[in-house]
Amino acid sequence: MPRRRKRDIIIKGFSKLLKEDKLKIVAELMDKQVESMDLMMSFWHSDHKVQKIFDEFSENTITNFYIPYGVAPNVIVNGHNYLVPLVIEESSVVAAASSSAKFWSERGGFKAEVIEVIKIGQVHFTWKGDKQKLLSVFNDLKKYLRNSVREITSNMEARGGGVVDFELIDMTKEVDDYYQLKVSFNTVDSMGANFINSCLEEFAVALQTYFREKKIFEGEEKESRIIMSILSNYTPECLVKAWVECEYSDMDSVDDKMKGEEFAKKFQLAVKIAEVDVYRATTHNKGIFNGIDAVAIATGNDFRAIEAAGHTYASKSGKYKSLSTVKLKDGKFIYSLTIPLAMGTVGGLTSLHPLAKQSLEMLDNPTAKELMMITASVGLANNFAAIRSLVTKGIQVGHMKMHLMNILNHFEATEDEKAKAVEYFIGNKVSFNSVSQFINKLREVEE
Ligand code: MEV
Repeated sequence: MPRRRKRDIIIKGFSKLLKEDKLKIVAELMDKQVESMDLMMSFWHSDHKVQKIFDEFSENTITNFYIPYGVAPNVIVNGHNYLVPLVIEESSVVAAASSSAKFWSERGGFKAEVIEVIKIGQVHFTWKGDKQKLLSVFNDLKKYLRNSVREITSNMEARGGGVVDFELIDMTKEVDDYYQLKVSFNTVDSMGANFINSCLEEFAVALQTYFREKKIFEGEEKESRIIMSILSNYTPECLVKAWVECEYSDMDSVDDKMKGEEFAKKFQLAVKIAEVDVYRATTHNKGIFNGIDAVAIATGNDFRAIEAAGHTYASKSGKYKSLSTVKLKDGKFIYSLTIPLAMGTVGGLTSLHPLAKQSLEMLDNPTAKELMMITASVGLANNFAAIRSLVTKGIQVGHMKMHLMNILNHFEATEDEKAKAVEYFIGNKVSFNSVSQFINKLREVEE
């Protein structure tokens, strides 16, 4: 019980303490203080300079949390062969991406195209003035707003991006006096979150000044109240499509119980189910994000933003649906994924995190558009591997085979025991119980 009581204490000024002192406070809350301290410190990077980079990414860093960094070879996108880095803890994701990439590498690879690269930001404000007057000066206001951010946008403009356009959205039917200034941006190769938010905050100030200073608004309510200025993580116009296609007969080898045509039809049905049933759609799309998030993390991109946009996009019809689709036409299986992917290859974590930088180099230092196409292809690869397993042998055979090492580690199996288990489970079903029994038997014999 003393531990519980200690946890009830409000810690003041924690962020200002030295890392070592923070660690001590945390360790004191654990059952085994010395062991906890040693464990956390054992995950510090041996190079102080590298560790400092990690410490400074976030507040109150006390240690590092490792996640495996794997690679999927043979990911062919538009004829270019990529070795794709994936950071993920789920044992079967890299294996699934790799096996699917190899499968499609023998059938023309993935094709991909970027449809659009526009990102959106909003200044949410209330205004009681005459809307018609505001509309009549909107072109002038746009120029005024553009000028207000010249200093911020000049570099981005030199790279081919910047503020694309402004729209005034009247939301007064939903909320009294509520308008939005909806701004579209092109942030070229950067994710651009800071750029967009900095512009928006300037627009908010400029908007208020404009209302106050322009003659046309004289004699009426001039004050606009800025509610907030922030980018939107919904990026339906930052969109990429990846697809694969082949003849039915090219899939004859997928399963020994079905010809390619039957497999294609069963596969299509599985995808249709994810179009009509929200429970299945969620899991289906989760399988897509297994690959997408893993590439996003490996390349220092914001996977939460990407997931948020993807799930909203999956609901764009008013009903949450599969992000991937299958068409069967003239004996051909055409399978595609269209998804918003706001990704960057410069700025932010992409160059600060030593491994993110390395990941981009592994991908031949892609542009943001190229990274979008690679990532969408990996999402499709993971989705294909999942559905292929689901409609043939089921998911658990592969999953549990990959999970075998985790279970063996749980039982603290020796290298010799692991080797014996791997051999035994080639022909036997893996489950927590079956592995437990196998290890117990081995140990009984050894005693
Ligand atoms: C597991 O991480 C992902 C799957 O459940 C996806 C799916 O069911 O399509 C296998």
